[in-house]
Amino acid sequence: MNTQAKCRRVALTLALVGAAMTIGSGGGWSPRRVAAAEPPQVIEIKAKKYEFSPSQITFKKGAPVVLRLSSEDRSHGFFVKPLGVDADIKPGQVTDVAVRPDATGEYVVICDHYCGLGHGNMKMTLNAVQ
Ligand code: CUA
Repeated sequence: MNTQAKCRRVALTLALVGAAMTIGSGGGWSPRRVAAAEPPQVIEIKAKKYEFSPSQITFKKGAPVVLRLSSEDRSHGFFVKPLGVDADIKPGQVTDVAVRPDATGEYVVICDHYCGLGHGNMKMTLNAVQ
């Protein structure tokens, strides 16, 4: 794609986003219909040697949550066995992971990519509450 075509495409995308926002803010659509989409709660988590930040998050069980993962240094892992999550966190890249635990409890996340001396202690906790 040449630069000009790329620019046109970006402009079109922005126009579509603008239109979607107008619709979302109630332009003729009933509020109930908008609410029915139930957008996931997005929680940002940053990884770096040898910690996740924040080190603990809490959300409601059964509610859709997206964990937005990024790294401040090198590649790390994001492994939550009971939730079937095994993601790579690569520097310069955002990785979204959807979770929706149907039971309350503490879910321990471990880094499962060797990332240096502190690797074995690189953990965080997801708390699913009632
Ligand atoms: Cu981070 Cu291993």
